Amino acid sequence: MSDFARRLIAWHARQGRHDLPWQNTTDPYRVWLSEIMLQQTQVATVIPYYGRFLERFPTLADLAAAPVQEVMALWSGLGYYARARNLHQCARAVMAEHGGGFPQDPAAIAALPGIGRSTANAIAVFCFGVRAPILDGNVKRVLCRWRGVEGFPGAPAVEKSLWRLAESLLPDGDCGTYIQAQMDLGAGVCSRGRPRCGDCPLAEDCVARREDRVAELPAARPRKALPERESTVLAIMTDGRVLLEERPAAGIWGGLWSLPEVPAGADARAHLESRGWRVGKCRPLPKLVHVFTHFRLTLRPLLVLAEAAPQVAEPGQHWLAAGEVESAPLPAPIRKVLAGLLPVGR
Ligand code: ADE
Repeated sequence: MSDFARRLIAWHARQGRHDLPWQNTTDPYRVWLSEIMLQQTQVATVIPYYGRFLERFPTLADLAAAPVQEVMALWSGLGYYARARNLHQCARAVMAEHGGGFPQDPAAIAALPGIGRSTANAIAVFCFGVRAPILDGNVKRVLCRWRGVEGFPGAPAVEKSLWRLAESLLPDGDCGTYIQAQMDLGAGVCSRGRPRCGDCPLAEDCVARREDRVAELPAARPRKALPERESTVLAIMTDGRVLLEERPAAGIWGGLWSLPEVPAGADARAHLESRGWRVGKCRPLPKLVHVFTHFRLTLRPLLVLAEAAPQVAEPGQHWLAAGEVESAPLPAPIRKVLAGLLPVGR
């Protein structure tokens, strides 16, 4: 037996939970119901629902025969309502396809509505004495920390390696105690926030603990790719000064001074000339990427050497010399554009 499994089983005898309402039974209906309710939901929340549910539906046949609305009503408050709809469908499938008794093979259990590989394995282990690992959120956290597994555990490649690791750690016997120990350790000791490493039977060789990375592991779900925006901004220069415009109070960089923007798709020279500018040479400057909380902005600055400005300046415009940049209220990316620019224009 792996030392990992041995320590967990020994710990469970001393510190684990032994009297939860769904323990000390091998009735697959009860075990299945508890496992579905316990997905994304804490034990303390589940206990009263579990009791009410069994009172109303003492057997799988009772549940299958009930109208789905009644099942939903009893689930009300537990959240993740797809679980309740699948639960009802699963009860009907077991009645229709398996003569009212759960299949024993983990793959056959996992083929039923609403049952994934980990839940199927838990049912097979607890009820039929099968030897199989589980890999719910709690177990993923324990394994990622103990082994220092990098990457988001929900990513397919990481999950695959975690399943392999979980398989390799299984004890030869007493698999039920072992997986219950993993569940209990993940929920009560190796918790997401404030883990109690001092009470953990795995602490002595836990990679996350040794490297002081308990708070970082497992890695968080990667953020979705941010929407991309592009903006062409004009560094209009004349006599060593550059033109800045006050931004409207609302929106990005509200109230700061920025470079004038060209409307999307417009030609910069034509745009300026239509507003009374006489434009000399134009040259693109290196682009810049700036990440906001809700989008990524690619700034494409264009250097414009102005030969004459319009007769009437627009409100909120400021001509800035090199020495004035530092104290002007500029967004950081615009400051960057100017830093590479003003010495040239002087
Ligand atoms: N979480 C998921 N399954 C569980 C179980 N059988 N006991 C305690 N917590 C759990």
